[in-house]
Amino acid sequence: MSDVTKLARKGILDLKPYSPGKSIEEVQREFGLKELTKLASNENSTGPSPQAIRAIESELGNIFRYPDPPCTLLRRAIAKRLGVTEEMVTLANGCDNIIFMIGAAFINEGDEVIMAEPTFAVYEGVTRIMGGRPIPVTLKNHTHDLEGMAQRIGPRTKLFFLCNPNNPTGTLVPKEELNRFLAHLPGHIIVILDEAYFDYVSEQDYPDGISLLRGDLNLIALRTFSKIYGLAGLRVGFAVADGDLIGVMDRVRDPFPVNRVAQAAALAALRDEKHRREVLRVNEEGKAFLYGEFERLNIDYVPTQANFIFVDFKKDSLEIYNALLKEGMIIRPGTIWDYPTSARITIGTMDENRGFIEKLEGILRRT
Ligand SMILES: Cc1ncc(COP(=O)(O)O)c(C=O)c1O
Repeated sequence: MSDVTKLARKGILDLKPYSPGKSIEEVQREFGLKELTKLASNENSTGPSPQAIRAIESELGNIFRYPDPPCTLLRRAIAKRLGVTEEMVTLANGCDNIIFMIGAAFINEGDEVIMAEPTFAVYEGVTRIMGGRPIPVTLKNHTHDLEGMAQRIGPRTKLFFLCNPNNPTGTLVPKEELNRFLAHLPGHIIVILDEAYFDYVSEQDYPDGISLLRGDLNLIALRTFSKIYGLAGLRVGFAVADGDLIGVMDRVRDPFPVNRVAQAAALAALRDEKHRREVLRVNEEGKAFLYGEFERLNIDYVPTQANFIFVDFKKDSLEIYNALLKEGMIIRPGTIWDYPTSARITIGTMDENRGFIEKLEGILRRT
């Protein structure tokens, strides 16, 4: 057989595959553990809405049929909820897939794409796959350095990713700063406001990307059903933008981007306001508990606007990560972002949070 790597597109072989963190199944197999807690992927610890589960059950008999490609009912419900037209919304197989669509629709070879460092890793991966050039700009005080990022804008800049709140730090860019930045944005640039954690934000000064959409601005807001709605395993994400931008993105959309079961579940989840409020309550309670425990254990943390907390153990976090793994607890070590003493902890249920602190305290005493 010929060397197939010679047949691969330029740049693909240099890509570091996206590392989503260890799954529960992987760790169970590796360590022979039955009981496991995963606080590693910013999933919703409360779980899905019971109404979403009922909708899934009643859709199962229809799975021999292809799904509705434009997700008509779900798209309509989202548009109504957000006060935009249906033409301004497109859905896909998770926000990951939406980000891929953005890359495929807009990045030409050599185009520059500005993003924070560290931020959500998929931006860089998609940029490289499309032959673009990622321009990473280091965070300042764990927050996007918008001024520094604006200084990197040049004639080849095509996209500008702003993860708000930022993953992995949970920090946000406030309204006024974003407005000032957008007011001076050159017309050849598209800004992607990734608002995957939108519903968790409690800060008043948080800009709602949808309210910033206007005809003279190339702005795309991203939202997902993986977080507050607890449907990460079903994969539903969406973009909201001017209809012309959505029209270009839809040219590269998969023929059937969201499966039937996922469409039905997302529609039901969107309507279950009571469950959404309960998820938020659990997150706030967990956040307050973990802040208190981190202070007691003298662990630095970055105040978060999301469902995860970025901490600094001031010790080798890989060692702590591995010790926690052996005890059936999965977190994300900061080494993946070049922060060797940090980690990102997803806020869990109170039982999960207490179990985590108990194990962590024992490990910190031993290391
Ligand atoms: C900032 C950010 N954007 C997008 C995503 C992906 O969302 P989805 O599950 O809809 O693909 C994540 C997932 O963790 C995320 O943290």
